[in-house]
Amino acid sequence: MAGREMRPAGWSSSCRHGSALPLLPLLLLLLTASAQAQQAPSSRTDPVEASALNAVFSKLGLQLWPPWFTGDPCVGAAMNASLDNPEFNPAITCDCTDQNNTVCHITKLKMYALNLVGTIPEELRNLTHLTDLDLVQNYLTGPLPSFIGELTAMEYLSLGINALSGSVPKELGNLTNLVSLSFSINNLNGSLPSELGNLAKLEQLYIDSAGLSGPLPSSFTRLTRMKTLWASDNDFTGQMPDYIGNWFELTEL
Ligand SMILES: *[C@@H]1O[C@H](CO)[C@@H](O)[C@H](O)[C@H]1NC(C)=O
Ligand SMILES: *[C@@H]1O[C@H](CO)[C@@H](O)[C@H](O)[C@H]1NC(C)=O
Ligand SMILES: *[C@@H]1O[C@H](CO)[C@@H](O)[C@H](O)[C@H]1NC(C)=O
Ligand SMILES: *[C@@H]1O[C@H](CO)[C@@H](O)[C@H](O)[C@H]1NC(C)=O
Ligand SMILES: *[C@@H]1O[C@H](CO)[C@@H](O)[C@H](O)[C@H]1NC(C)=O
Repeated sequence: MAGREMRPAGWSSSCRHGSALPLLPLLLLLLTASAQAQQAPSSRTDPVEASALNAVFSKLGLQLWPPWFTGDPCVGAAMNASLDNPEFNPAITCDCTDQNNTVCHITKLKMYALNLVGTIPEELRNLTHLTDLDLVQNYLTGPLPSFIGELTAMEYLSLGINALSGSVPKELGNLTNLVSLSFSINNLNGSLPSELGNLAKLEQLYIDSAGLSGPLPSSFTRLTRMKTLWASDNDFTGQMPDYIGNWFELTEL
């Protein structure tokens, strides 16, 4: 991209300064070569992840496949995508620095409010480099699968506004890099597993209207980085835990 942007600048400065004109062919050649080097695909998506992404899209009944999804997912327009940009949805982000910049891994996946139906596909299990997964506001049913707990690079896990059922798997406690966890507005049941107290980096927990019951686990005393907790509209029982008073970063409850 940088190569392409430099070309017009090179042209105009050569035209202004007549003395640079004899150098123009050489300059052009260099710029063309650099632009080609930029465009030549020097890296490609890990094939296991590419096929997993493909399977996830199919299984969730994605109606309109994104225009960037042609061939290798980590090449082309997908590389421009920011998960915050509504124009890219679904969207991915890739990290292409592995194996001396030759292998790309899919690090973020957003499929926000796309009328997706079905259960959370098992193929997600193969997107082992995910740090951010956003499946918010779809029609996902079935369990919140325990295999999500294998995706230990995860920092932002957003499953809110769906129809997931069953209990919260204790394996989520293995996601010790999590900064934000949300499964608000679902049809889950049972209590919060005490293993979630292992999420020492957790800053945001959105579990309102999730169908939960029982006490807040005493292990949450360790969640000292908590800034935002939304937990209303559940059937939680017992006392308001004292440890909340030791969550010194808390700004929203
Ligand atoms: C990336 O975004 C830039 C700026 O919007 C655009 O010029 C370029 O064509 C895009 N690249 C791809 C491969 O879509
Ligand atoms: C990595 O790539 C660079 C540039 O292509 C090359 O010089 C270097 O030998 C490579 N290193 C390895 C470990 O392959
Ligand atoms: C993950 O990838 C491996 C290797 O391609 C494949 O054998 C396996 O079936 C995949 N797992 C899932 C759940 O799709
Ligand atoms: C929770 O929901 C699952 C499936 O929806 C059901 O099988 C189970 O009995 C429920 N458990 C409780 C404690 O309500
Ligand atoms: C993940 O969590 C489960 C239940 O908490 C535990 O039994 C398992 O050993 C953990 N797996 C890893 C790889 O840590």
